[in-house]
Amino acid sequence: MSGQAIDTNAMTLIRYVLAEQKKFPGATGDLTALLNSILTACKAVSSAVRKAGIAKIFGIVGQTNVQGEEVKKLDVLANDLFINMLKSSYTTCLLISEEDERVIEVETDKRGKYIVCFDPLDGSSNIDCLVSIGSIFSIYRKTSTGPPTEQDGLQSGRNIVAAGYALYGSATMVVLSTGNGVNGFMLDPAIGEFILTDPNMTVKPRGKYYSINEGYASLWDKAVTEYVKRKKYPENGKPYGARYIGSMVADVHRTLKYGGIFMYPATKDSPNGKLRLLYECNPMAYIIEQAGGLASSGKIPILDVVPKKIHQRSPIFLGSREDVEEILDLYKQL
Ligand code: AHG
Ligand code: MN
Ligand code: MN
Repeated sequence: MSGQAIDTNAMTLIRYVLAEQKKFPGATGDLTALLNSILTACKAVSSAVRKAGIAKIFGIVGQTNVQGEEVKKLDVLANDLFINMLKSSYTTCLLISEEDERVIEVETDKRGKYIVCFDPLDGSSNIDCLVSIGSIFSIYRKTSTGPPTEQDGLQSGRNIVAAGYALYGSATMVVLSTGNGVNGFMLDPAIGEFILTDPNMTVKPRGKYYSINEGYASLWDKAVTEYVKRKKYPENGKPYGARYIGSMVADVHRTLKYGGIFMYPATKDSPNGKLRLLYECNPMAYIIEQAGGLASSGKIPILDVVPKKIHQRSPIFLGSREDVEEILDLYKQL
């Protein structure tokens, strides 16, 4: 670096995706256009998150701000942004959002070949206290002929074409995989571009943190109880540190960067856990596997689960390979 304030040759996310696309001679550029539309949504959500307090963006839907304008709740705003940007990219035919009970069919004249599953705003309980939140997405190809139906969206995570998340943390970052490793891009607010800052992200084979909502300890399976006990009272070595933010994006991002394990297990009340397979578990499992880690339901790899319903839940254990293997061994024993 010459000490210049502006990098005149920065690797932006879209530049990276264009270079990847060049490796496939038949590529149409549709995936690039689709990713671009997601980035626009993420930038707008990021901007809304940053000024949410001042603009009184959050609050009840239909509430009015000081100017007397109607304001949308942040998660409704994020959902509208994702839907509008994705539809107008002319690359999608079916959208599945956490916020919409049913699949969203894209109008005939705007249809393309991709299906997108997304959680437009993850970590909603953290919005009002200014703790990190995020957006999560995964992209599939439509494999059938004919008009898009819900069935087209019920593909296993093994069919993912690209997936990632945006983290609205102390900075805004997009972490993306198009099936060839994982890269992290930080939003440079000065130019409104995502710049490659974390190339080839990998999750270390073993970490030092465990991450779980310990409030539900009385409702856990035996394997989880035993696992957490071992982390707190190890026979040898130091105990693990505990970290739990309560925003999946932030907890997974820390796990990717520092190693360790993130768990949202089954409980007595919720035998399938809380997190949703299509737009929470699958995209994160894809990223973690692409980074060399593991993501399991406790029984099988998350990406092998064949969904039956668009909003179905799954228990999840993901992160450093050795840490995840340890709990899976306990599940086999107990
Ligand atoms: P969402 O805000 O999209 O509904 O998801 C919140 C999720 C996830 O981000 C987090 O890991 C989990 O809820 C936390 O749940 P608990 O409060 O039960 O720990
Ligand atoms: Mn969520
Ligand atoms: Mn959400």
